[in-house]
Amino acid sequence: MNIAVNQAQLEAGDLVETRRSPLGLFAAILRNPLTALPPEIFREKLVLASVAGRQSLYVCDPPLIQEALVRNAASLGKGEIARKVLGPALGDGLLTAEGAHWRWQRQSVAAGFQHEKLIGFLPAMIGAAEDTKKRWQSMTAPLDIGHEMMRTTFAIIVETMLSGSASLDVGRVERSITDYLEPTSYVFAYTMLGLPEWVPYPGRVRARAATGYLRESIGELVTARRAGASRRGDLLDMLLDATDPETGRAMQDSEIVDNLLTFITAGHETTALGLAWTLHLLAEHPSVEQQVLDEIARVTQGTALAPEHVGQLSFTKAVFQESMRLYPPAPVITRQVEKPFDLGSLSLCEGTVLYVPIQAVHRHEKLWTEPERFDPTRFLPEASKGRHRYAYLPFGAGPRICIGSAFATMEAVAILAALLPSLKLAPVSREAPEPSLKITLRPRRPLMMTASERRAA
Ligand code: HEM
Repeated sequence: MNIAVNQAQLEAGDLVETRRSPLGLFAAILRNPLTALPPEIFREKLVLASVAGRQSLYVCDPPLIQEALVRNAASLGKGEIARKVLGPALGDGLLTAEGAHWRWQRQSVAAGFQHEKLIGFLPAMIGAAEDTKKRWQSMTAPLDIGHEMMRTTFAIIVETMLSGSASLDVGRVERSITDYLEPTSYVFAYTMLGLPEWVPYPGRVRARAATGYLRESIGELVTARRAGASRRGDLLDMLLDATDPETGRAMQDSEIVDNLLTFITAGHETTALGLAWTLHLLAEHPSVEQQVLDEIARVTQGTALAPEHVGQLSFTKAVFQESMRLYPPAPVITRQVEKPFDLGSLSLCEGTVLYVPIQAVHRHEKLWTEPERFDPTRFLPEASKGRHRYAYLPFGAGPRICIGSAFATMEAVAILAALLPSLKLAPVSREAPEPSLKITLRPRRPLMMTASERRAA
């Protein structure tokens, strides 16, 4: 037992316990890990889930999330699940590293995400969205919006972080990421149930091949940049120039590959999914879409979208924020206790697995009025007052908060503002899309939409 409950401190309704049969859980994870999460997380503060004697704790209460991810961040590690699911591809890069190795890497790249630097990326963001617009205007067949957004955000991440790189094959990189993510449900299920790693599962060979391809092609970029004399001041140069303050050593090529792969995958897939869900929601809510169009028209005054317009599009930004409330691209944060600490009325021992189920917090019935309703006005400045800071956390919380949060938000607003005034998107199917958890929140079936020229009103 990893968790001790202090009955004297425990207030009524603070904690509920659930038990699942290992077989039922296994089947649910393989179908869609989202459906394997205990339903109580949408209404309770803390949910203690036991499966075959293994316990894990779901933290759904904003003050307790703060207590865990912010105040006790130093007592938590990313844990076995993150290591097994992400480690094979991302090694010990910024997302997966711990302790001093993490700190050094975070400090080495922090300057690349300061506001002035991000403003400098806006022309590349708008340019990639304009390319997407031209592509859509020349197509008549329905579009797989998730795939289309991946192409757009991939072009942006490669342009901004690697100063462009024609040698990367977008299609193959995207396929490799999908191949890698596809069997992660098995890795997740095996780890939760304590099954040994050698037990085979479908898709493992393909996932290994995908990892091999991704690491090799990124490795070639590093070698080419080391061999060349020119410096570009981008993420790759920051990594090449980084020095560990404790040991004075530079990063080895494999560590640079870990990080480039981390930034390429974490930096384009999440934003693309956030945008795909946003475009779906806007197509379902024409009056909200009209408000977005009105705002863009007011800010741009009929001129082409320019970098200085993007920061003024506060309603468009609120739409993206509300879409990420309903469909957070990274819907669950996992941690493992490394040093015991108290969380509310619980004493957590070493090894306790914690989940912060972001999607459930974002739709929690005690935290949001009409949680299932799409209402971007929730994110207008006045409406946000009184909401606990950690009731909304699409980018995580504490020292491990997403380093790319401002980048992603700026990018999403720029892409929406570049595409929407000329093109109207409509879903091909009236069936509500089902989200599925493959580390990120992907639509279970492709979100197919048609794009047509928008006629001036
Ligand atoms: C809408 C888009 C995005 C979402 C929803 C998102 C979400 C997240 C979340 C929830 C975490 C915290 C994970 C944890 O605590 O375990 C995270 C970490 C991270 N994200 Fe993002 N992210 C997005 C975009 C980006 C972009 C654009 C980049 C890079 C350009 C990026 C790079 C990273 C990195 C490197 C980390 C690890 C940070 C660390 O541990 O120090 N992300 N992201």
